[in-house]
Amino acid sequence: MLVLGIESSCDETAAAVVRDGRVILSSVISSQIEMHKPFGGVVPELASREHLEKIGPIVHQAISASGVTLDQIDGVAVTRGPGLVGALLVGVSYAKALAFGLGIPLIGVNHIEGHVYSVAFENPEVEYPALALIVSGGHTNLFYIPEEGIYQIVSRTRDDAAGEAFDKVAKMLGLGYPGGPIIEKLARDGDPAKVKFTRAKISDGRPDFSFSGLKTAVARFIRENDVKPVNAGAAPDQVILDLAASFQYAVVDALVGTMKKQAKILGPKTLIVAGGVACNGALKAAAESAASSLNIPVYFPSKELSTDNAAMIAAAGNAHLKKGDRSDLRLTADVTMRLQNAGIPDSELRRQKVRYRL
Ligand code: KG4
Ligand code: ZN
Repeated sequence: MLVLGIESSCDETAAAVVRDGRVILSSVISSQIEMHKPFGGVVPELASREHLEKIGPIVHQAISASGVTLDQIDGVAVTRGPGLVGALLVGVSYAKALAFGLGIPLIGVNHIEGHVYSVAFENPEVEYPALALIVSGGHTNLFYIPEEGIYQIVSRTRDDAAGEAFDKVAKMLGLGYPGGPIIEKLARDGDPAKVKFTRAKISDGRPDFSFSGLKTAVARFIRENDVKPVNAGAAPDQVILDLAASFQYAVVDALVGTMKKQAKILGPKTLIVAGGVACNGALKAAAESAASSLNIPVYFPSKELSTDNAAMIAAAGNAHLKKGDRSDLRLTADVTMRLQNAGIPDSELRRQKVRYRL
């Protein structure tokens, strides 16, 4: 089955053609990073306008690079949510019109489920149950996946997403946007044990994440130690390198520590780590060491497939279309769409030892 994927939930306009959910025939991404850089974050109104200009050309490029023609496409998969409403609507409207015009099935896909499927291309087929950590600029969630397509949320962030914390700390240090890759680079020359950040404690005992306290602790450290933000072009001094390494260590330790602890309780056969932050080498190394101590494999997407793309949306859409799921022309954006199945019977959850229902 040939699926055309379309993604426009945030600041990437992307289209891809994927065969059978496993083989990428083309994947085209137009990033708006340069446009949003001066603002230190995504400006929703600018994002929507840019998507509107790019969506047509990007879909055409994806089709022509794929080696197949539009009339060979079997279905259209589009990100339905979560994301920015104006941005999502561009992709959803385009996908509806295209599927209607071609007379082929349409499926609205959850962006986070797309990230789960981003490991489908360069790894062996996922063995279930799986435990998936999805870490990006907008989301930080740990999902238990007893079987393909069933998601039980185990952990979520109470405040900032992990990628957002990277971006905000980078902004405080005058490092530029997006912050993740810059902090990772600086952290390589810093000492992760130099600044001891305490881990967030969630008072109700749920295994959730929280990064806003860490962000405040970094701000306090900057103030108390009179750390000067890096001016464009100036080499950061050792204090900043150590701060970057210590902050990164605290984030990675919180993410992987929770994943490992929950894996011990839930006993998955596979770990998945995906989303923009999965580009981070320190996170990968920590997840690999956790997986090897648990004696199970961990799958990551390639760098290109870690950040937002449409191939992962096509792969997730492929799985739904195969099951017979369809969206109709009433499909619309769902800004706060959650990935969580209410349909798992409690007895099954108990059997699977999933203790936390959010
Ligand atoms: O998945 P993504 O492209 O967009 C969202 O769905 O949010 O993720 C972007 C996020 C940004 O916050 C960026 O700083 C972070 O991923 N990121 C990283 C790295 N590369 C990207 N964070 C840490 N280390 C990296 N190497
Ligand atoms: Zn994403």
